[in-house]
Amino acid sequence: MNFSFGTGHASAAKADVLVLPLFDTDLTEKKNPPSAWVKSDKKMRGLLAKLAQQEGFKGKADQSCVIQTHGKLGVGRVILLGLGTRAKFNAEVLRMAIGRGIKAANKLKSKTAVIQVPGVRELDASLQAVVEGALLGTYRYDKWRTTNKDEKASARVEKVQLLLPDGVKKDKSMDGTAALARTIAEAANFARDLVNEPAGTMTPTILAEQAKAMAKEAGLGLHVFDRKKIAELNMGLFLGVARGSVEEPKLIHLSYTPDDPVAAKRAPIALVGKAITFDSGGLSLKPSDGMLDMKTDMAGSAAVLGAMRVIAKLKPPFPVHGFMGACENMPSGNAYRLGDVLVSRLGKTVEITNTDAEGRLVLGDVLTYANELKPAAIIDLATLTGACIVALGPWVAGAFGDDDQLMWNVLESARSAGEDIWRLPMTDTLKDVLKSDVADMKNAGDRMGGSITAAHFLKEFVGETPWVHLDIAGPSNVNKEKGYMAKGATGFAVRTLVEFIRRRTAELNAAADEAIDTSDAE
Ligand code: BES
Ligand code: MN
Ligand code: ZN
Repeated sequence: MNFSFGTGHASAAKADVLVLPLFDTDLTEKKNPPSAWVKSDKKMRGLLAKLAQQEGFKGKADQSCVIQTHGKLGVGRVILLGLGTRAKFNAEVLRMAIGRGIKAANKLKSKTAVIQVPGVRELDASLQAVVEGALLGTYRYDKWRTTNKDEKASARVEKVQLLLPDGVKKDKSMDGTAALARTIAEAANFARDLVNEPAGTMTPTILAEQAKAMAKEAGLGLHVFDRKKIAELNMGLFLGVARGSVEEPKLIHLSYTPDDPVAAKRAPIALVGKAITFDSGGLSLKPSDGMLDMKTDMAGSAAVLGAMRVIAKLKPPFPVHGFMGACENMPSGNAYRLGDVLVSRLGKTVEITNTDAEGRLVLGDVLTYANELKPAAIIDLATLTGACIVALGPWVAGAFGDDDQLMWNVLESARSAGEDIWRLPMTDTLKDVLKSDVADMKNAGDRMGGSITAAHFLKEFVGETPWVHLDIAGPSNVNKEKGYMAKGATGFAVRTLVEFIRRRTAELNAAADEAIDTSDAE
């Protein structure tokens, strides 16, 4: 799909479809209705408004409506998209709407589309949201289909022209915004592919190969360690989980280092992703229903891989590392048992009370390893607990950590990237739940507050380093298509991580500029 910018009038657009996002008030207000709507309607002799009304289109935030123009406009059809009320508008509303619009356009087998960018305050964020929404909305996972595949694959919009709002001129920075949006959306789609891939063909070895191919293309450093090396690193928790599977575990370490030697010496950011390529539960076997989606238990690592791919292009003025402990959690004659005591890399011992609480074990050792780099901050991402879905629902991720500043930065990044992440408390009242009679701690507490106890477990391995844990068990995967999301993997957290790195870059650059200003004054 390629994008260009235009300043013409929507009513004069020539393409297969015109995509027209509208606020609810745009349809009812007599004072200042958008001219794209008014003029197009005039050319259609009032049919646009009439048909929209007949279809019950009111501009609500989840509505869309396709209208035939019968040759009265230069486009075959108009796709109306509801944006809801202006008061609730943000870039994510637009991203979702454009996702719906592009899905409708693809269904109509349109090849070319003109999208009217709505007149709103933050134009740059809107342009980014439109490009992201279009690319994310086009995503399909049809690798394993043998029927209808070619027909479906070719039914995709190829050319998109973004019509700028009235009075806005084209400028060079817009191409940069579109390019960034493309890089981000393609990375999220890459993450979606990794997560959607069945566990049989997304083994730890294959995940490591994917990381290698990506690192090579992006110009990132890469180390991959196998079972023997993981044992040498004394990662007893990781090894314990990996034992039950014939698949070789892989510790994957990606690194971005700035070219500038001063920047390269700065404290790095560490991103850590859960990479259980299949979670059967182990000997604490999951029931069939709960196991069905467990190929997605590596979504945290997919988010890290997606983000690292973008970071390689952003080239921030500080190093960024990505760590993933990839393995399967399987029952077997060699599997780790309930009651076993495992010794972590950090030295802490863990009594296994549930082999299905495996993510925190692998993460414990990998967090320890990441922390040895003395990072300025660690962010981990994990499909860690069903309890987090119970607490927040399937669309919202939980955030945990005691460092308020880092937490704020992560939450603000999520907000501006349009991903829903909310903080949950690491209340001390739930710390005792992990006390063990035989070891330093046990790996699973009781059901109540399960995502909080999981976070307490992880915290044991990060020491005093500023750290945020994101439990993405819900939003990493959806069972309903919606907006720009398709059923299945969402690529959740790629956008938040990229935004976090961009903000940190902006902060550092602002501080450097200030330092230059003051030295000038002296
Ligand atoms: N991978 C699961 C968590 C999960 C559940 C992710 C549902 C996505 C959807 C995790 O390893 C797990 O099994 N957690 C247990 C923890 C319990 C045994 C303490 C859970 O949530 O039930
Ligand atoms: Mn599990
Ligand atoms: Zn798991």
